Amino acid sequence: MPAPVTFTIEPGGCLRGAIGVPGDKSISHRAVIFGAIAEGDTEVHGFLEAADTLATAAAFRAMGVDIDGPRDGSLRVRGVGLRGLRAPDADLDLGNSGTAMRLLPGVLAAQAFDARLRGDASLNARPMGRIITPLTSMGARIEASAGMTPPLAIRGRGAPLTAIEYRMPVASAQVKSCLLLAGLYADGVTRIHEPAPSRDHTERMLSAFGHGVQRADDAIGIEGGTELRATKVEVPGDISSAAFFLVGASIAPGSDLRIEAVGMNPTRVGVIEVLRAMGARIDVLDERSVGGEPIADVRVRAADLHGVTIPRALVPLAIDEFPALFVAAACAEGETILEGAGELRVKESDRIAAMAAGLAALGVDAEPREDGMRIRGGALGGGRVASHGDHRIAMSLAMAGLRASAPVIVDDCANVATSFPGFAALARSAGLAIDVGVGR
Ligand code: S3P
Repeated sequence: MPAPVTFTIEPGGCLRGAIGVPGDKSISHRAVIFGAIAEGDTEVHGFLEAADTLATAAAFRAMGVDIDGPRDGSLRVRGVGLRGLRAPDADLDLGNSGTAMRLLPGVLAAQAFDARLRGDASLNARPMGRIITPLTSMGARIEASAGMTPPLAIRGRGAPLTAIEYRMPVASAQVKSCLLLAGLYADGVTRIHEPAPSRDHTERMLSAFGHGVQRADDAIGIEGGTELRATKVEVPGDISSAAFFLVGASIAPGSDLRIEAVGMNPTRVGVIEVLRAMGARIDVLDERSVGGEPIADVRVRAADLHGVTIPRALVPLAIDEFPALFVAAACAEGETILEGAGELRVKESDRIAAMAAGLAALGVDAEPREDGMRIRGGALGGGRVASHGDHRIAMSLAMAGLRASAPVIVDDCANVATSFPGFAALARSAGLAIDVGVGR
């Protein structure tokens, strides 16, 4: 158990200057996974050195993949090809990482050896039926705990998987990516229908590794059987990490912050669209592209925000940013309504309940709903709030301190290290009066 970590934020201050945020978590996981099963050496730059992505690297090392680094964000993965992985000697511990727990079974279901995947208490409570059901119809043999949660035991099979056509009941990039990975090992074309677009980093990375996907209407198809070719991956800054700063600078008068080299993939920019609809002053500058992903510098200045009804189509495109957006809504004039976001209840914590409780503790009128939230903006007081061990709740509530009338103390923040190890130091350098207490 890591020592407990508490954030204390003194009220006031604003965010100014120029910062860079760590590498994108989704892309970093995928760079290791694809690098490991490709033929040849994959070089990764800008890799996120955080607990989640390091767990993925450790899992592939345990399956015989040589990985040098990461050092200063650079990593070299010596790919073993689709069939070169070795049986791990022990359970693969994926820590807090839902992405690792949902993507790895796509690869493991087709191997000739058995593997067992487990996680921390939060991950061991997350639903895995959404990958187990379609993988099973491809021929995978997976045993889960009661309630279809991890640990997962994946039994080896000597034969290829069977290609399927599958309609996903929820828009989930993790489920889609799991099935695309399994599709690499299937006979024929695996076709996946998404109810709404979700992040497409897997599709982009498959092309970068020389294995294009077929797209038609709402379906993505992948043909199994051919090897991937190693490549160089440049990981952009994580827009999900930038989101805390986009919100912080929007709500704190006097802020003017530039965030450099942020990933601007159209399937990830929902947070910017929602904030702009609320009246935020966000400029996207110097748009360019690295390694098949668009990036830009983003300038954000303080603004008078107003409440909005968030369009349902934006929900999958901003799914990880709602904790931060709820803080923006708490500082906006009028009411913000979110619906169609029941997925938030099964993230690293129940993010609807956790944010409603955190904001209520600061005096905000926040009403949790089954699949969303209603928030009426107003004055924020200080108080002690719980992150529920969820990195994004911790960082969002920390930013609320910018507008609170008294100190905000956020408990249980050790898990910030799963996605954003340098968060407090970076936020302090930009102007947040944050103090980190360890072991109290
Ligand atoms: C992710 C997809 C999203 C997101 C998660 C990362 C990914 O999950 O919440 O943090 O890397 O594919 P869902 O696909 O379950 O929505």
